[in-house]
Amino acid sequence: MSRLVVVSNRVPDPAKGPPAGGLAVALNSALEKMGGVWMGWTGKSSGVKEPGPLQFVERGNITFALTDLSRRDLAEYYTGFANSVLWPLCHYRLDLTEYARKDMAGYFRVNRLFAERLRPLIQPDDIIWIHDYHLIPMASELRRLGVGNRIGFFMHIPWPSPDVFFTLPVHEAIIDNLTAYDLLGFQTEHDVENFALALKRDGIGRDMGDGWMAAYGRRFQAKAFPIGIDVAEFASTAKEAVRSKAVKRTAVSFAGRDLIIGVDRLDYSKGLTHRIDGFERFLIANPAWRGRTTLLQVTPKSRSEVQGYSDMQRQVAEHAGRVNGAMGTLDWTPIRYINQSVGRNTLAGLYRIARVGLVTPLRDGMNLVAKEFVAAQNPADPGVLVLSRFAGAARELDAAVLVNPYDVEAIGNAIARALSMPLEARVERYTAMMARIEQNDISKWSADFLGMLQPEEQRTTEPV
Ligand code: UDP
Ligand code: G6P
Repeated sequence: MSRLVVVSNRVPDPAKGPPAGGLAVALNSALEKMGGVWMGWTGKSSGVKEPGPLQFVERGNITFALTDLSRRDLAEYYTGFANSVLWPLCHYRLDLTEYARKDMAGYFRVNRLFAERLRPLIQPDDIIWIHDYHLIPMASELRRLGVGNRIGFFMHIPWPSPDVFFTLPVHEAIIDNLTAYDLLGFQTEHDVENFALALKRDGIGRDMGDGWMAAYGRRFQAKAFPIGIDVAEFASTAKEAVRSKAVKRTAVSFAGRDLIIGVDRLDYSKGLTHRIDGFERFLIANPAWRGRTTLLQVTPKSRSEVQGYSDMQRQVAEHAGRVNGAMGTLDWTPIRYINQSVGRNTLAGLYRIARVGLVTPLRDGMNLVAKEFVAAQNPADPGVLVLSRFAGAARELDAAVLVNPYDVEAIGNAIARALSMPLEARVERYTAMMARIEQNDISKWSADFLGMLQPEEQRTTEPV
């Protein structure tokens, strides 16, 4: 039987035991089933030195193969091209892209380094699965090193429209590198369409139908595999967690007020300032709710070394401070804003005691928080999900209260509607959303992707 080789920039810390949380759990269980290797970055810098040998950690039948990265590699590959070019570009923030030739060179160099380090570990029957925008060139680097195995790629973030994508000076190289894969997975049909449009408009390839595409003389498959969560596990975690000390204490601290919850990495794609302004509009338009509800915004810091992120940190703090200053009273703070990450179990319990989940990214590949919020609800008395139309999750969760996240008045109105929604309507929406996320849960995601990658289809290197 084939082994599975997974590569992702960030790898869950193997020292902490089996991972908690969607993607890591799914990949972990696929790896446990097939046995295999998980390669990635340790999360550490080797300083000015080149990284030492791969660090191996064995856990059951999974071998973690981890590498440090030098300060320069991190600056150019991770902070530079991945997070100052590809991330903003794919989230439609051309104003935040900072293109620099040396970062692009660093991006390709680190991908080559990953491939060279992985090469000796690959066995002839291995199935290789590469993840996310950091590692697009990995397959072509592996091919260059003689790897003929099946290699799949999953893009966790949106694929932008061609007009946006073509602003990237190296867009041809990016597509060229993607054609070295046998299978490309995207979050939604919309992403697949955007990708196919880019091939067509640039005259470099075409959609051949039936999930097959061709470009630069190579054929490959491309398909949407919307990522899910382990719904049953998350629901039972949430049910348990409401009895935990942390959740009980938090519930008591709200003193009977209705809880609205937001959970996001501190990222400009998450629509945090619009959300806070929307909450303020809600309080202004609905004075009867003042003092009766609190927005708990859990927002761990992320990628602070990138300017767009440090600017966003300041802006979110300013917006939250302004609303609290203007609307708060002696015994009520409208927004409780925390900059630390909260453990998964506690989060699950907080989702369950919340009346409203506010998930309003300006653009998001999928957004797992939206699915987790739904899974965590009490079926007899569920809370309401307010969800951005521009999150991949909105394609499945169309029974949420959908909003345009740029429209702060619409956010305000959606909050009012959600807080006063009758039980029957809440149950109906919850039931519809649960059915969708149960149908498309995380084990289906990895099974569908690997099922398509595994069979001996035509080789990608075949000329067309
Ligand atoms: N998360 C967490 N603790 C936090 C904030 C977030 O465990 O303090 C988890 C959250 O439960 C979800 C993931 O981080 O599983 C975020 O995934 P999502 O797709 O919503 O957004 P991303 O961060 O990948 O852009
Ligand atoms: C998103 C990306 C992941 C990334 C995660 C955390 O979910 O799709 O690839 O690992 O954000 O970001 P970080 O830069 O801390 O790894």
